[in-house]
Amino acid sequence: MVGLGPGAERTLTAEALETLARADVVVGYTTYIKLIEHHLAGKEVISSGMKKEVDRAMLALEIAAKGKHVAVVSSGDPGVYGMAGPVLEAAPAGMEVDIVPGVTAANAAAALLGAPLMHDFAVISLSDLLTPWETIVRRLEAAAYADFIIVLYNPRSRGRKDHLATARSIILEKRDGSTVVGLVRNCGRAEEGSKITTLAQLNVEEVDMFTTVIIGNSCTKVVNGRMVTPRGYAL
Ligand SMILES: C[S@@+](CC[C@H](N)C(=O)[O-])C[C@H]1O[C@@H](n2cnc3c(N)ncnc32)[C@H](O)[C@@H]1O
Repeated sequence: MVGLGPGAERTLTAEALETLARADVVVGYTTYIKLIEHHLAGKEVISSGMKKEVDRAMLALEIAAKGKHVAVVSSGDPGVYGMAGPVLEAAPAGMEVDIVPGVTAANAAAALLGAPLMHDFAVISLSDLLTPWETIVRRLEAAAYADFIIVLYNPRSRGRKDHLATARSIILEKRDGSTVVGLVRNCGRAEEGSKITTLAQLNVEEVDMFTTVIIGNSCTKVVNGRMVTPRGYAL
């Protein structure tokens, strides 16, 4: 299980590169396979489309059971909404499965924005494909109530155009409209972009499924154009 980071060569870890170099077979989502194609010469590559995670996990386990070194690649970290879970759940007892961590989108986005994750934070995916929407709403309410910095994954897509607007309304019940919000789109890839705005001014139309949204806590501020959450140091 290999985390590729958010997309840029510079955030591929040395451990990820070593593991890919050792692999006989590399399995992953087509978009991510394309990003690392230049590391895959001479290897068997099996790529498939979105929503085929379980099929990929099963196939990887079948090939590994025959004695081959298989690298299943995920964007970001494989244990954060990635493939590590299904592979470990389905792997037969005794099969060796290594998890190679990667830079998750939240960390990469935070670094571009400044230092917004200096205090307690919650990551919430707004995708209701595998999680009931009621559960997502409850978690948004709880995180907003507890003044967590909130990182939103899967904030908006063609199939869930209203989720981000609804999430914003829920958070606004507990937070001021002036709360600092950072948007990072396509971090580490071509067309990388970032923006700092506020909860009240957030234009949901600017956000898509390639965007990570970071909503600051009640103390988060903008310092020289960077988003910073103070931790209480005396400066
Ligand atoms: C399922 S989650 C990501 C899980 C992945 N395993 C990780 O650790 O980053 C998918 C969401 O992550 C965010 N994301 C992933 N890659 C990104 C990137 N390069 N730039 C900005 N956001 C990204 C987007 O919100 C996207 O909808």
